[in-house]
Amino acid sequence: MAELLKIEDISVNYGAIKALKNVSMKVNKGDIVSLIGANGAGKSTLLKAIVGLEPLIDGSISYSDSILATNNVRKSISTENIAKLGISLVPEGRHVFADMSVEENLDMGAFLVRDDAIIRQKKEEMFEFFPILGERRNQKTRSLSGGEQQMMAIARALMSSPNLLLLDEPGLGLAPLVVQDIFDKIAYINKTEKITVFLVEQNAKMALKASTEGYVMENGRIVLSGSSEELLTSKQVQEAYLGA
Ligand SMILES: Nc1ncnc2c1ncn2[C@@H]1O[C@H](COP(=O)(O)OP(=O)(O)OP(=O)(O)O)[C@@H](O)[C@H]1O
Ligand SMILES: [Mg+2]
Repeated sequence: MAELLKIEDISVNYGAIKALKNVSMKVNKGDIVSLIGANGAGKSTLLKAIVGLEPLIDGSISYSDSILATNNVRKSISTENIAKLGISLVPEGRHVFADMSVEENLDMGAFLVRDDAIIRQKKEEMFEFFPILGERRNQKTRSLSGGEQQMMAIARALMSSPNLLLLDEPGLGLAPLVVQDIFDKIAYINKTEKITVFLVEQNAKMALKASTEGYVMENGRIVLSGSSEELLTSKQVQEAYLGA
């Protein structure tokens, strides 16, 4: 399988805090890859580095044939241009526009799309993926449940027709059944739309079940990686993350 995203030996600091230390990983085209780790491990920092929101102290990030980021800011690509390359991030905590309707939120996700007919078609596609959003299309987003808001945040990210979808803890604060429903949708979208997914989660079990490959991060380092199946049955993962 061809590599779509390649992270080589990157480090990110916040002042004196070393948030990422020599992290390397890759995401192959078409896969769902998960990154699991506890609070403060550095998961969100890694996603921010991928989309150009945190500069690298060291290492490089490449996507397809483009270098996204290096420790030389001038050779790195801006967040807007990274979006234009087909990378879409659903940030932690969703960041929905609460006073806008569902449909208006989806319109915001299509800010790179110039053609209104395509935007309308994309919205209808999203309402097929997430029928509940279609039913709520004119409703203010603040009136949606947490799970519905998460679905909307994912749909908004899909409005730009990305090749790579980055998800930062889509299951955060949601009941297991709702998380399962969302992960099932993600799997369906991965398969039908051929969108590669990089899934960051604290919920190790659900993330590993939903993915083919996985990485484990602790204190800014990757400490384990392998097929998700291997990780699910590994003693180290079971003891530290699965409560076994
Ligand atoms: N803007 C910032 N300034 C200073 N330190 C930060 C900043 N953002 C994150 N950190 C620190 O960097 C480390 C990694 O944080 P990060 O948000 O990447 O973790 P995380 O794995 O996403 O955690 P969580 O699961 O709680 O979201 C933490 O120690 C955090 O306190
Ligand atoms: Mg985080």
